Amino acid sequence: MSIVEFIKKKPKAELHLHIEGTLEPEHMFVLAKRNNIQIPFNNISDVKKAYNFSNLESFLKIYYEGSKVLVKEQDFFDLTWAYVLKCKEDNVVHTEVFFDPQTHVYRGISFDTVISGIYRALKKANKEFGLSFKIIMCFLRHLDQESGLEILNQALAHKDKIFGVGLDSSETGNPPRKFEKLFKKAIEKDFITVAHAGEEGPPEYIWEALNLLNVKRIDHGVQCLHDEKLVKKLCNNQIPLTVCPLSNIKLRVFKKLEEHNLKKMLDKKLIVTVNSDDPAYFGGYVNKNLIEIQAALNLSANEVKTLLINSFKSSFLKEEEKKEWISKI
Ligand code: ADE
Ligand code: ZN
Repeated sequence: MSIVEFIKKKPKAELHLHIEGTLEPEHMFVLAKRNNIQIPFNNISDVKKAYNFSNLESFLKIYYEGSKVLVKEQDFFDLTWAYVLKCKEDNVVHTEVFFDPQTHVYRGISFDTVISGIYRALKKANKEFGLSFKIIMCFLRHLDQESGLEILNQALAHKDKIFGVGLDSSETGNPPRKFEKLFKKAIEKDFITVAHAGEEGPPEYIWEALNLLNVKRIDHGVQCLHDEKLVKKLCNNQIPLTVCPLSNIKLRVFKKLEEHNLKKMLDKKLIVTVNSDDPAYFGGYVNKNLIEIQAALNLSANEVKTLLINSFKSSFLKEEEKKEWISKI
């Protein structure tokens, strides 16, 4: 079997995926029309041109604009259903999905509408083709802690559907320490915690996520290699890093895939996984991320196997479930 076939055929888990980031341009136009929402694009070619980002901030501006077409419960269902079909295609058998409630609640969409649509699609996928899932609610770090606390309160009514909380949006200038009280409260309420850290921001933000937010996983974390002590800590504590290669190129964290530090991270024995982040904006779902990074860094079959094993090892599945999937790789 070729490496590409191996990647396509083997079961895998996806651990870093923003559901709003799966909104394909074609679907954006359908929803804009259905809900009578103005979008700043006339056609698909306009959209493709606009998806030429210079950094995280420039992406987020367009991303939040695109999310405005999501209004009704059915829109969130349709969005999520389109994503689970991609999972089926890529042999993703377990997914841990982020959503950003503040993006929607502050433009008048109820928390209930958002979570119900997402959850209904994931449950249907679980019933129809066995996809397992966890939902992780992210706080927008460009907003303040008070806003996060309000959202956390609303999430309590949906604790049965939401497994954990995360932290996303503009990293620079919004360090994890800004949200210490919020994450403490979330942990008290029995949510597990993760956070985006070290995507563009310094290693210090990864230290803060670990020490102040008690995260079980770091999202991105590619800047950790600038701090040897941090690398040691991540290895010793077996903290996974959910790396997103195509995202890092589109947002210019690295100039090209050949310069990505994923192989160096593997060499240091860090627990890294490959994920798609916002695939509709960054040019590919998880298999494409795996195939392209393998080719660019000339990863060996063993290294690819490690990445797939890590995807389950780093998930929030139960130990028996992890073992079962790993035995199939
Ligand atoms: N929200 C969606 N994608 C993100 C990313 N890559 N970093 C921070 N926030 C995000
Ligand atoms: Zn992300």
